[in-house]
Amino acid sequence: MTARITLDPDFSVGPVRRRTFGSFVEHLGRCVYTGIYEPDHPSADENGFRTDVLELVRELGVSTIRYPGGNFVSNYRWEDGVGPADERPTRLDLAWHSSDPNTFGTDEFMAWCTKADVEPMMAINLGTRGIQEALDLLEYCNVPGGSHLAEKRRANGVEDPYRVKMWCLGNEMDGPWQVGHKTPDEYGRLATEVARAMRMVDPDLQLVACGSSHSRMPTFGDWERIVLTESYDYVDYISAHVYYFEEDGDLGSFLASAVNMDRFIEGIVATADAVRTATKREKRINISFDEWNVWYQKRAESKVSEGDDWPVAPRLLEDRYNVADSVVVGNLLISLLRHTDRVHAASLAQLVNVIAPIMTEPGGPAWKQTIFHPFALTSRYAQGDVLAVPIVGPTYETEKYGEVAVLDAVGTHDKATGDLAVFLVNRSQTESTDFRINLRAFDAPTVVEAVQLSNPDHTWHATMEDSTSVVPQPLDGVSLDEGVLTGSLPPVSWSMIRLSTTPATDAS
Ligand code: AHR
Repeated sequence: MTARITLDPDFSVGPVRRRTFGSFVEHLGRCVYTGIYEPDHPSADENGFRTDVLELVRELGVSTIRYPGGNFVSNYRWEDGVGPADERPTRLDLAWHSSDPNTFGTDEFMAWCTKADVEPMMAINLGTRGIQEALDLLEYCNVPGGSHLAEKRRANGVEDPYRVKMWCLGNEMDGPWQVGHKTPDEYGRLATEVARAMRMVDPDLQLVACGSSHSRMPTFGDWERIVLTESYDYVDYISAHVYYFEEDGDLGSFLASAVNMDRFIEGIVATADAVRTATKREKRINISFDEWNVWYQKRAESKVSEGDDWPVAPRLLEDRYNVADSVVVGNLLISLLRHTDRVHAASLAQLVNVIAPIMTEPGGPAWKQTIFHPFALTSRYAQGDVLAVPIVGPTYETEKYGEVAVLDAVGTHDKATGDLAVFLVNRSQTESTDFRINLRAFDAPTVVEAVQLSNPDHTWHATMEDSTSVVPQPLDGVSLDEGVLTGSLPPVSWSMIRLSTTPATDAS
């Protein structure tokens, strides 16, 4: 049961991209209201933002935040959320059968992003709306002044434009659940015309066309081909979304979810490149993996209200994550990183309360779920280049994905500092897995830190009362001998090993 890996600083897949560590804030459940925004909370600042949450967001190390949806965006009127708060209308949110008081909108979001030190990534409504409204929001956000909507922003107290770079052209338009759902031909045309018009305002925007909502969508593949054939010259990215969960006690397949993510990414890349060949284009379309996580969609937590009940900020999608979930999340990040050549942005969905690493109680504390830890540590220590990581090792049979590797890993190396990090998972449910990593191509490696996240009971999950009993612990028994790093990973575990090596000189 020994997995063998070779790392070499010369074999890089591409740079570690900060945007890989993005997240997502949707007007859904308590993500915004009583999540990031709760004016009556004891920790609230002058904007009504919970500072206890802001602190955790900074610790999580998120780079980019997608906003305001999600399914929510497809019947959202952004104008409702700007201007004097007491004049803003309450509206029905059809996606989540809720009411939105609109006391938090675009300006509040941008102010929050500044405080959280994150880059905003806006989604526009292409469900009930179209070119004009997209242009209006762009003008409000990015035009310095002189025009009606730019002046409106200034009248609302924001002098400088936000200059938002990244824009999602709608959300999950392939999904029949989406308000304003479209065929690929309809969406391809609309996305192209919206993108063309937006580029007349600013040719340097980075635009994301909607891809498939998951790899099991019957239209997956065809959707990307048709949409990109139409919009190729006007967009930069195609989106991908996926959520995993342990189904019917099949932990083996669940722990191998990253295998499915790998195949999904590779399928999108193949389709985008086929369109490139067929349309004789030079540029490549890359992936914005702007929704990914574990989500138990069939549980009561995800059941929306019905009938005349349109609650404000209900408890929705408040999944509690166990240790196995956190191992899967850590592994999904490994998958995103190893595809850094084509995955140029990603968003963990979502940030607070709604399928989230951070939970809050109204008027009470904010605390970390298990999935917080692999995300925060990978975001902090994955630096420089992502290395190619060939692995030879034991395998096991899964119901969903066939034969898969027991151990999965990725490595990153910062040539300038010499910092090397290896992130690993052991998918075995019962056995420790030994590893042997050949680091002979590095100069003078030494181990700085080795940590692991696991628990004899992998179903343990954090609660408001106890969110610290299971957190990353030292990974004992790691040793480095003549350039070979060895050790053993506990069953159902995520680990990180950090090393220092001699930084490269300019000449090397
Ligand atoms: O993140 C929850 C929901 O999942 C989003 O609103 C939607 O885009 C996806 O289906």
